[in-house]
Amino acid sequence: MKDSNFLKEHNAKSLWHPMAHPADSQANPPAIITAASGVRITDLDGHEVIDAVGGLWNVNLGFSCQPVKDAIAAQLDVLPYYSTFRGTSNDQVIQLAEMLRDFFAPDGLTRAFFTSGGSDSVETALRLARQYHKVRGEAGRTKFLSLKKGYHGTHMGGASVNGNANFRTQYEPLLPGCHHIPAPYTYRNPFNESDPERLAQLCLQALEDEIAFQGAGTIAAFIMEPILGAGGVIPPHESFMPGVRDICTKYGILLIADEVITAFGRTGSWSGSRHWGVQPDFMCTAKAITNGYFPFGAVMIADAVAEVFEQDETGRAAIGHGYTYSGHPVGAAAALACLEETLRLDVPTNAAARGKELHQGLLALQEKHTLIGDVRGGHGLMCAMELVADRDSKAAADKKTTAVLQEVTYQNGAMVRVSGPNIILSPPLVLSSQDVQGILSALDAGFSAAS
Ligand SMILES: Cc1ncc(COP(=O)(O)O)c(C=O)c1O
Repeated sequence: MKDSNFLKEHNAKSLWHPMAHPADSQANPPAIITAASGVRITDLDGHEVIDAVGGLWNVNLGFSCQPVKDAIAAQLDVLPYYSTFRGTSNDQVIQLAEMLRDFFAPDGLTRAFFTSGGSDSVETALRLARQYHKVRGEAGRTKFLSLKKGYHGTHMGGASVNGNANFRTQYEPLLPGCHHIPAPYTYRNPFNESDPERLAQLCLQALEDEIAFQGAGTIAAFIMEPILGAGGVIPPHESFMPGVRDICTKYGILLIADEVITAFGRTGSWSGSRHWGVQPDFMCTAKAITNGYFPFGAVMIADAVAEVFEQDETGRAAIGHGYTYSGHPVGAAAALACLEETLRLDVPTNAAARGKELHQGLLALQEKHTLIGDVRGGHGLMCAMELVADRDSKAAADKKTTAVLQEVTYQNGAMVRVSGPNIILSPPLVLSSQDVQGILSALDAGFSAAS
């Protein structure tokens, strides 16, 4: 490795960072992470902290998951790459598809289409949803509905269904025919409704209203995260996703569950859809499928949808979509080992217990620090705090305040993620109670300095 002076001098100089202004990265160089172990990361200066971001919602089993590392290393020696485009497959991906079929059987999902990550998975589901309707002879169903505040990655299709202006405005015009309904976000919503159940009903009414306005026969799919994540961790009332499922079924609209962050245990259930007792038509997965150690994803497909494709005799069901790295043997080997380890450790149980402790701890911090306008969580290890300059007006806290909070929290032992006015926590699911307390005390110091 080059010496630390070289690295600091060249930090953000010749690379642009995702989700950052290039000039800002140069003015405020990012932390240089050089090592990690368990749930902790270490920077170039040797400062070690608990990673309350969990990589980026993906390192669910921590940074020392040996079975996944071994599987990757072993597979590189045997078959480092081969394509799964028509005519060839590999031993790892066949086994993985069978394992995923068993894993997602309770969600009613029995086929897999492999991708290189979350945005790819979203793109795949959107495209296959349109194709499904064309195969069935309803070619007019091309539109997509989604939630404001939702995050569905950064490909052109995903950005078009995203519900946050930050990911849209500079890239418009986006895909036509994408329409958004209000999210069940109790802290701020156009209905001025703070009761979660009543708000869920209002959002469902808005969905039905939009379907009537667009015409059900023009809509291919509704895409949603079971618990909105990157948009600021917004858990809906338990009636919401089942309500969406019913409406989609009633109008022949496919339901795509974007579970890029919620699949494999994060919510305290094995999937976000299962958490709410819903069976989607497609499920987008990625991230924790390999514990973040290899870029990989899978779109899971419901039996009934799969049958439409498999029984087609017109040729329209031929899939004109796929990635060079779809079904990558190293990614598949990593996913096989990761899934086995995820099951062995029963991570949802720990995610639920530690998530409760973390959520309660954040609520206690809210009592102490007026900067915290809203605390959201209570469903596994995904929590957020929304920071406000003033609790009455709910005016968002400024960037300087969130920057001080993040820096002082980091100096006191925890890496947290700032996204606009939100502090987002998505730590590894193998976190201990002591780690939870470590995150809370680092945050306490951060809030004291930022207030
Ligand atoms: C719900 C959701 N969908 C899609 C994506 C995009 O995944 P990726 O960054 O792997 O392309 C993300 C990333 O955070 C996500 O949270």
